[in-house]
Amino acid sequence: MKQDTIVILDLGSHNNTVIARCIRDLGVYSEIKPHDITLEELKAMGNVKGIILSGGENNIINGEAIDVIPELYDAGYPIMSIDHKLAKVESKTYPENEEDLSPMMKEFVFDVCCATPNWNMANFINDQVELIRKQVGNKKVLLALSGGVDSSVVAAMLIKAIGDQLVCVHVNHGLMRKGESENVVEVFRNQLHANLVYVDATDRFLGKLAGVADPEEKRKIIGAEFIRVFEEEARKLEGIEFLAQGTIYPDIIESGTKTAHVVKSHHNVGGLPEDMQFELVEPLYQLFKDEVRACGVELGLPYEMVYRQPFPGPGLGVRVLGAITTDRLEAVRESDAILREEFALAGLDKQVWQYFTVVPDFKSVGVKNNARCYEYPVIIRAVNTVDAMTAVVPQLDWDVLHKITNRILAEVPNVNRVCYDMSPKPCATIEWE
Ligand code: XMP
Repeated sequence: MKQDTIVILDLGSHNNTVIARCIRDLGVYSEIKPHDITLEELKAMGNVKGIILSGGENNIINGEAIDVIPELYDAGYPIMSIDHKLAKVESKTYPENEEDLSPMMKEFVFDVCCATPNWNMANFINDQVELIRKQVGNKKVLLALSGGVDSSVVAAMLIKAIGDQLVCVHVNHGLMRKGESENVVEVFRNQLHANLVYVDATDRFLGKLAGVADPEEKRKIIGAEFIRVFEEEARKLEGIEFLAQGTIYPDIIESGTKTAHVVKSHHNVGGLPEDMQFELVEPLYQLFKDEVRACGVELGLPYEMVYRQPFPGPGLGVRVLGAITTDRLEAVRESDAILREEFALAGLDKQVWQYFTVVPDFKSVGVKNNARCYEYPVIIRAVNTVDAMTAVVPQLDWDVLHKITNRILAEVPNVNRVCYDMSPKPCATIEWE
């Protein structure tokens, strides 16, 4: 069953995503499309119940104001125009008050377009499973399974659709958090019975990183080595024709529509050699992040995996400052595990957006067991943010901070000091490297 759809045509508005979200929150599927979509493309989308022309200040391309194709106005679709003065229908103004958007959309979607609110995760999953089976047939699909939210949800979806025709490759670069790789193996191999190739490349990554102190250099090495390991594993497998990716809707929007500036290019796996020809399977490309999580829950993934805080691709590698050494890597891993445990006990895991520890590459003097010691500090970082572009530091409960400090000092070797980073972004970034 294909759900009812409202199409938003991008005529230069900043509000396209907010409108799409608003309509989906009403239970009706909505998608943003370029302004010059053809009638054939619209028909191919299935149950299009209505069209919103979403105009705004980015409506000039190559010196000319853009409009939809003329035939669209006579194609029989109900049309609502917002801030698009060129439209042949009366143009409404985008509400000043965000609260007024929902009633405006409700009226158009239900009263004018008569759409049925049949957008929900169970229907979405059923649709995708059917589409994946049709696309893949009896061929094999490869997936780089990092254990992050997006790749985990893609894996769960594909396992439901095609079972062991999916081959997951999990590369442990040795910079994962405590228990993370083990958890990926437990959930996917033991519980969901995935066809999972587990590669422990710890020594290889740490070898490449030995003595490298520059943060950008470290990131580049980790990224390049990851692709190399993944590529080597992919070459060992036979008969793979598809590559699954956890591309999600913001990736597609941020990679640039016709009117918006490119925020950043997204390469989810990227860099695979050109002689390896794969067709892509991207079952989450229509979903916003919170919808991806809801989809993961519906597919039966554990809560901790689906609501996991963001974790950078280079992993703990950018939290062991400067050249990575095993003693400091272990200090970061152990202190991070304590922090996560105590945050969960205090309920802070649901209140704080991201929290982790950092270990710098200098020591300070302390005293332990009545003797002088010279050891590393652990820095606690906790931030709240909406979009990670700016961030504030939450005022944490003093008793919780005390307990975490005492545990880190008692349980983590080579550490004699704990600090709390009070810096907002800007001036600081969330990560230290
Ligand atoms: P910064 O440090 O730039 O971090 O304020 C913003 C957010 O992005 C995450 N981050 C990364 N995520 N690959 C990722 O997938 C990376 O290389 C990377 N670097 C930073 C960071 O954890 C924070 O949530």
